[in-house]
Amino acid sequence: MSQPLLFEEFSDLDGVIPWISLVNTPTPVKNLEKLENHLKTGTSIWIKQDNLTSATYGGNKVRKLEFLIADALEKEKETIATLGGIGTNHGLATAIFAKEKGLNVVLYLINQPLSKHVLDNLKLDFYYGAELKYVKNYLGVGLNFYFLDRLKRKRVYWLPAGGSTPIGILGYVNAVLELKQQIEEGKLPEPEQIYVAAGTTGTMAGIELGVQLTNLQTQVIGIRVTDKMAATGRKVKSLIKGALKILQKDSKLRKFQYKPKFKLIDHFFGGKYGRVTPEGLEAVEIVKKTEGVMLETTYTGKTLAALLAYVEEAKTNAPILFWNTYNSVDLSSVADQVNYQQLPSEFYHLFEDKVE
Ligand SMILES: Cc1ncc(COP(=O)(O)O)c(C=O)c1O
Repeated sequence: MSQPLLFEEFSDLDGVIPWISLVNTPTPVKNLEKLENHLKTGTSIWIKQDNLTSATYGGNKVRKLEFLIADALEKEKETIATLGGIGTNHGLATAIFAKEKGLNVVLYLINQPLSKHVLDNLKLDFYYGAELKYVKNYLGVGLNFYFLDRLKRKRVYWLPAGGSTPIGILGYVNAVLELKQQIEEGKLPEPEQIYVAAGTTGTMAGIELGVQLTNLQTQVIGIRVTDKMAATGRKVKSLIKGALKILQKDSKLRKFQYKPKFKLIDHFFGGKYGRVTPEGLEAVEIVKKTEGVMLETTYTGKTLAALLAYVEEAKTNAPILFWNTYNSVDLSSVADQVNYQQLPSEFYHLFEDKVE
C-alpha cells in the first residue's frame, strides 16, 4: 500500500493522521478536446476524473473516507452514523467502504426529489447492509441524529452530511497534491480555474486549501447545489481552518497563512436541492454527446453549466479544469436485485409514488 502524497510532502504527519487506502491514484486527467471544438471559444478545458476513484464505487466521497474511516477505526468506533437525502451518494459510499472495513453504518435519510437514481441508491444502501432511518426532514435530523440517538447509541462516529469535516477534507488536500504532480509531469497545464460542485462544501474546501499549500495560482470556483444553509463561504473557511489545525502538526506548515481566494457561485442552484435545471440538463447532454462523459443533474451538471457559461462569456484561452465528482460505476443491476419490500416499510410509499 503506497503512502498518500500528503505524508510524502509533510512527513511529520505520517503515523500521526490515520489513513487507509481506498482510492486508485492518480485519477486520470484529460483534455476535453471535442467539447472545446463544439464550443469554439478557444478555451482549453480539462477534466479530473474522480468518477474513477474506485472500481467498487467512485466519486468524491471515497477520498474523504480514506481519512474518515481510518479516524473512526483509530478511535475504536463500531459504527459510523451519517445523514443525507434519500439518494445520498455520500451515505452509499460510506455504507460500502465502512462495511468493508468492519464498521456498522446507520443512515439518517431525508426527503428529496425522487428519481430512479435516488431510489436505486436507497436500495443499494440496504444491499450493502446499512441500517436505514427515515427521518424525513431537518427537524427529524435535529431530533434523532443530533440529539436523541446520541444518548442511546454507543461507540458511534457521528459524521456530518457529505463527510465534510476537517478530517474528511484532507482527502481533497491530498487530491490537489496529486493534481500538482500531474501538472509537473506535463499531463495538464496549470488551470486558471477549477470548477467543482459545492454541496456540503468539503470537496471545494479541500481543493482550495490544497491549491494554496502547493502554490498553484488557480482560483477555485464552487457551484452551490444545496440550500444556502449548507453551503456558505463561511463554512468553507471554517473547514479549512479546522483542517489547517491538523496539518500544522507538520513543522513545514507552522507558519502557513491561508488567504481566501475561492468563489462560491449561487445562481445555478435552481432553488431546490435535486431540482433539474435547463442549463444543468443541457450541460449533461453536451458533454455526453461530445465526450461520452456521463454526469448527473444534481451536482456535476450544474457545475459544468457554470463552467460553460463562463467560457461563453469570457472567451478566455486560459486552461480551465472541471473536477468530476460523480461515481461512474454502474450499480443499477445490483440495485435491481433488491425488492423495495425488503426495506423498512416506511420507505415503501417512495417506490409506489410517481418517479420523475
Ligand atoms: C456527485 C457529487 N458531487 C459533488 C458533491 C458535493 O461534495 P461536497 O458535499 O463535498 O460539497 C456530492 C455530494 O454528495 C456528490 O454526490
